[in-house]
Amino acid sequence: MGFIVDGFPVFCLERWQSLHETSTGLVLSESGGEPPSIEELESYGVNVEAVVKRMELGYGWTKGLPRLRELIASRIYSDVVDAEHIVVTSGGAEANLLAVLATIAPGSLAIVDVPNYLQVWGLLAMRSARVYEYRRRSGDWSLEPDRLAELIDALRPKAVFVTNPNNPTGRVERSLGVLAEAAARHDTILVFDEVYRGLELSGPRTSSVLEAAESYGAVAISTGSLSKTYSLPGLRIGWVATNNKQLAEKLWSVKDYTTISTSRLSEELAAAVLEAAADKLAERTRRIAARNLELLSAACGVDRVHRPEAGAFTLIRVKGSDVVVAEELLRKHNILVVPGTCMKASGYIRVSLGIADSRRARDAYIKLCSALTETEGLDKESS
Ligand SMILES: Cc1ncc(COP(=O)(O)O)c(C=O)c1O
Repeated sequence: MGFIVDGFPVFCLERWQSLHETSTGLVLSESGGEPPSIEELESYGVNVEAVVKRMELGYGWTKGLPRLRELIASRIYSDVVDAEHIVVTSGGAEANLLAVLATIAPGSLAIVDVPNYLQVWGLLAMRSARVYEYRRRSGDWSLEPDRLAELIDALRPKAVFVTNPNNPTGRVERSLGVLAEAAARHDTILVFDEVYRGLELSGPRTSSVLEAAESYGAVAISTGSLSKTYSLPGLRIGWVATNNKQLAEKLWSVKDYTTISTSRLSEELAAAVLEAAADKLAERTRRIAARNLELLSAACGVDRVHRPEAGAFTLIRVKGSDVVVAEELLRKHNILVVPGTCMKASGYIRVSLGIADSRRARDAYIKLCSALTETEGLDKESS
């Protein structure tokens, strides 16, 4: 995959997106819902003008707007975490950065869940951690909490990084007790990226790692954002939350170095969104993704399209190299998808379920699936 600078691996997925997402005709590489317009947001009860007009554009609070932290504590975590133990960040991306920097020192042992959005994986390399990749088994992609708990017992790592619900497999793990028990035994910190929590396509809402940690006396960190479940990535509002006071102090201290504070404007809008429209926005994203999963399955065939439990994306198995297929789709058909290799899910491409309009979504999937058939046919001829 290569390095940007010494010890800092190329972030394959984000680089691929950055290079192509603004210049490709059909973009199917996104992982959240298509964002609503400000007008649509207002129809859900967010009075944007009123929020914006009374604002002063100062730095605000380095830990994050107190009202926003209170709303995150109550609406996102059902008050299982103290608002004082939450730091507002620039998206889940900064939240993950703070979580790695606050828990991992050079040489620390960390277990990281794969396949995954490989930001944390890359940050751990950058931090010179010793990294154990915990690989989910393909097809089912279960986290297998018992197997992971055994590994925690054997390796006693400083921290375990999991994405739940998982990106790109869309797999949800709801039984976290055995992990929390193992973590508590060895003072291992459980760090869960929960940006897709609330975007379940089937089954109840995924419980937060903070709930299991509370029950079993473990230390945990949860990261989240408004980008995916709430389809508002342009606000760049995320958060990091923990049940441990010292860790909360560390996370906040690291924030002094990264961005000082998050955009004041975005924080006020985020508070208004959580107050008036969080449930409606999550429902909107779930409805779009569930409908698009059916449209995609109808276009490409139910046998090929993986059925995720959560997320606004899914995986399609491809014949041959996923990197070659993704490059061909881009070059010959002007379609952008994510090659699974960028997420340690070789043999698959990741396809967005986020397109808001149903006709546009159906046309997009028909185009994708016929391009895929053509690409794979060519691949077969040349092999
Ligand atoms: C698992 C996961 N975490 C974090 C992020 C970062 O998103 P954001 O910074 O917009 O919250 C992403 C983006 O795709 C993601 O998939």
